[in-house]
Amino acid sequence: MNTLAIIGAQWGDEGKGKITDLLSQKADLVVRYQGGNNAGHTIVFGDTKVVLHQIPSGILHDHCTSVIAHGVVFEPEAFLQELEEIKPHTTVTPERLKISLNATVITSYHKLLDGLREDAAKNKIGTTKKGIGPAYEDKIGRRAVKVKDLLDREQLQARLEVMLSEKAHLFEHLYKSEFPPLQEELERLFALGQKIAPFVSDTFSFIDEAIKQDKKILFEGAQGILLDIDYGSYPYVTSSSTGYAGILTGAGVSTGQVEERLGIVKAYTTRVGAGPFPTELFVGIGEIIQEKGKEFGATTGRRRRCGWLDLPMLKYAVKASALTSIALTKVDVLSCLDQLEVCYAYEIDGKEYDCAYPGLDLEKVTPKYKKLSPFTDDFKQSGVYTTELQDYIDLIEKELGVPVGILAYGPERSEIDFRREYFV
Ligand code: IMP
Repeated sequence: MNTLAIIGAQWGDEGKGKITDLLSQKADLVVRYQGGNNAGHTIVFGDTKVVLHQIPSGILHDHCTSVIAHGVVFEPEAFLQELEEIKPHTTVTPERLKISLNATVITSYHKLLDGLREDAAKNKIGTTKKGIGPAYEDKIGRRAVKVKDLLDREQLQARLEVMLSEKAHLFEHLYKSEFPPLQEELERLFALGQKIAPFVSDTFSFIDEAIKQDKKILFEGAQGILLDIDYGSYPYVTSSSTGYAGILTGAGVSTGQVEERLGIVKAYTTRVGAGPFPTELFVGIGEIIQEKGKEFGATTGRRRRCGWLDLPMLKYAVKASALTSIALTKVDVLSCLDQLEVCYAYEIDGKEYDCAYPGLDLEKVTPKYKKLSPFTDDFKQSGVYTTELQDYIDLIEKELGVPVGILAYGPERSEIDFRREYFV
């Protein structure tokens, strides 16, 4: 097995960074295929904590090449800042880090628009205000700036003129907001382009060649399937294809070239931002999980909403991204509670559903719960699973129809149990 995808199976923040970092030890390439610096992938080793937003989580391993593929929306200023931040931990060269010349650029206009829209909206999405949605809109609307445009002043000016022709009206007349003049944005982006130029290349052919050479490739998803633009809880979603399909278009590979799809599942559910959340726990145990799990957004610092594990959503995620196994993370946070429940079905208009589907109105579902015996955290010391923990895992495997290949029980690299091997 040479190709492995790491895909968030819930509403993001499942612990993808840690799993990607560990599996990168065996990978030659780690590829980000969608999203942008709305992501926050956390890696902890000793007293050090690194949060990666755009740069793939393989960057901390010197043998590994990191690729930001064309499906990503790329913020050059934030990228350079991130590069500075990781300097003490790794040596980055253009051989080790590649940015697709065809990735879409997040400009100042996108960030401004994201913020203005969120502030003005009655039903707020709760976006990260990083400009993700507006940048993807421009890509689909065929008026985006691409990374290659940053390297050519004339081309950049022409693309910015197209982009700003509509947006200037929005800023001036709809939002009554100031915005950077075109010339200022042109100079800013061109200067950034000069700095990132050594990293820019044709990543499509690079990945293609790596596949032909039987290199081990890890595709690192950002956000999660329930935030996917098509499969997620629309409109409370991000603007990219977060799952399997996103890899095909966003990195430029074909189906047979992603052999294993590892879904990352937190042992409970969290959500940051607005939108329906059937198993949300508002007080009491929800607060305990929130505090114990330090559930704050890695990018925005916002408090994450917490709730029980939601099997109908997870079953759906397994189907939507053809997941072949899962990693169950933050099991330590769920241990030692005095009650434990999982949602096994939804009731909608008197009918029971054990699996969600696209367009399901999550506001209208009543979650049905099964009570389980809580488990202790003895396994952290002994490595032995108690019957209660084994029951929890067995239930998840039976309901989802895929094995729990990894169990993670703390932020440290060592706090993990590989129940099967990957990249063999
Ligand atoms: P956007 O991606 O900034 O447009 O935000 C859209 C929705 O996705 C909001 O609910 C965000 O909170 C959520 N979101 C975006 N990125 C992440 C992430 O990395 N983890 C969790 N939620 C995210």
